[in-house]
Amino acid sequence: MTIQENVPLAPLTTLQVGGAARYFAELRREEDVREAAQFAKARGLPLFVLGGGSNLVVSDSGWPGLALKIAIGGISSPNTNDATGNAVLFSVGAGVNWDDFVAQAVAQNCAGVECLSGIPGSVGGTPVQNVGAYGQEVADTIESVRALDLREDRIVVLPKPACEFRYRSSIFNTTERGRYIILRLNYWLKRGGTPNLKYADLQRHFAARLAEKKTPPSLAEVREAVREIRRSKGMLIVPGDDDCRSAGSFFKNPVLGEAQFKELAARAASKGIEIPSYPALDAQRKVSAAWLVEHSGFSKGYALGAAGISRKHALALINRGDAKASDIVGLKDEIQHGVQEAWGILLEPEPVFVGF
Ligand code: EPU
Repeated sequence: MTIQENVPLAPLTTLQVGGAARYFAELRREEDVREAAQFAKARGLPLFVLGGGSNLVVSDSGWPGLALKIAIGGISSPNTNDATGNAVLFSVGAGVNWDDFVAQAVAQNCAGVECLSGIPGSVGGTPVQNVGAYGQEVADTIESVRALDLREDRIVVLPKPACEFRYRSSIFNTTERGRYIILRLNYWLKRGGTPNLKYADLQRHFAARLAEKKTPPSLAEVREAVREIRRSKGMLIVPGDDDCRSAGSFFKNPVLGEAQFKELAARAASKGIEIPSYPALDAQRKVSAAWLVEHSGFSKGYALGAAGISRKHALALINRGDAKASDIVGLKDEIQHGVQEAWGILLEPEPVFVGF
């Protein structure tokens, strides 16, 4: 295990802003992760774990402690469980590129993650915010999470219920934030399973074909469709495309109780518009943050200095070239303020903020 000093973090993130890590190590083995954690503990250094860097805003002053990039690889699928042998347990290293895993699952005709194609980042990052898109979330397929428990200094296997998955949340970004370093994940996928076509964008994409052929698209076709939809929204990393120098969705879709939602809908009605919303758990409604942003005076392509809003999706804040973290945060503040003024809702940021 090699510990480097003063390593710039911006190039390791998709948003490409922020300063350097005082110490940095890239780790390929579980033992190395443990050793690095001990290095930090012995020196009283704060620890921060970097996955694919696709959901991070690093501060301009960087990270004063040790930043770890988890590069544990390997995808294996040794186990099948149900009587028909169709349930396949995939064990995947935290450092595996998420989309490589999706591609491999689809190539093996295994369903469960096909709608999550094209999401940037590494496998280890997916349980933290319970990554989801196009009608699937990783909580649907995660069987367990293998992690280093920094508090107890031992490796543990957390079964799915222990992770307490909710919309964009788990114990890893709430109650137990900072306690675990994720090393490996187990996902149950279904061999020969039918693809998930719940999401309106996907149904639209396949409408003509479904009407004509009456057969569902294959997993591979759904994967391609998702990638195409993501590309059109600037949510697929395309080298050279400024609109994808982002951290994905910058705000969570607010989940409102009945009374709060009624008030918001009434506010919209008084302006003669209808707000897009979707049912959420416990009789709640999820409303579209992108819509709120666009209806608070910020259009796609909006620019504030070197920071801006993607021309393809109102929820993606982008680095327009040489933005600093402070530019991105300035734009975030302006949008939060604008949406609060117009709609009485405080949008909650989705990315992880490092070193602020
Ligand atoms: N909309 C706008 N303006 C836009 C884009 C969307 O008004 O520029 C409105 C439209 O009414 C649209 C609705 O928002 O129907 C929903 O838009 P979209 O389908 O693009 O989804 P989203 O709610 O903005 C969420 C996730 C994405 C995920 C997509 C697809 C969050 C915060 N974001 O976005 O996840 O890819 O659904 O499932 O939940 C991410 O988390 O980083 C991310 C990209």
